[in-house]
Amino acid sequence: MATIRLGDKAPDFTADSSMGTINLYDYLGDSWGILFSHPADFTPVCTTELGTASKFKNEFDKRNVKMLALSVDGAASHAEWIKDINEVQNTTVNFPIIADEDKKVSHLYDMIHPNADNNLTVRSVFIIAPDKSVKLTLTYPASTGRNFYELLRVIDSLQLTAYHKVATPANWEHGKDVVVSPAISTAVAKEMFPKGVTEIKPYLRMTPDPTA
Ligand code: BEZ
Repeated sequence: MATIRLGDKAPDFTADSSMGTINLYDYLGDSWGILFSHPADFTPVCTTELGTASKFKNEFDKRNVKMLALSVDGAASHAEWIKDINEVQNTTVNFPIIADEDKKVSHLYDMIHPNADNNLTVRSVFIIAPDKSVKLTLTYPASTGRNFYELLRVIDSLQLTAYHKVATPANWEHGKDVVVSPAISTAVAKEMFPKGVTEIKPYLRMTPDPTA
């Protein structure tokens, strides 16, 4: 499978999961989606990630994002592992984990990087828009757990910039000033953004977050 690049259609698949058979496109419907892989069941960092993800589900729901995890073990193993996650993370895993025992989805999404590990997936993240295009990819090594605040932050940026002609600057968070898209003249920007436009340089114009 070729590398999946930004703007590509997310490949569809049907796979077993901790919640039964799942088809990606049916599962996502008209929602945004986040697909994230885990090296294996009963591993410590993954246990903390899945517990954290479960606690963040309300935040993903608010943003209309459906969560879908993946690990290269079977559904029976996932069921046992989920009991542990719920216990040690004091939560209830509330989204499906794909049971990718045959590594079909891992290969489809290029989640196995042989120079890192021949058999286990790396920690991949794919954020998928309602039109099924891939809007963001991230790759972390097995030894580094992901920051779920950062995942929410990038989703806020992706959703804002999908619907408004703006971009988000370094370390931006919802509610902070945004950058006017370089494709728009300052004169047009002043009409488009009634909260005001500050021209720092002709190519660097700021405006308050239009959704805040
Ligand atoms: C973990 O999830 O803790 C882990 C998995 C594979 C390699 C290293 C760490």
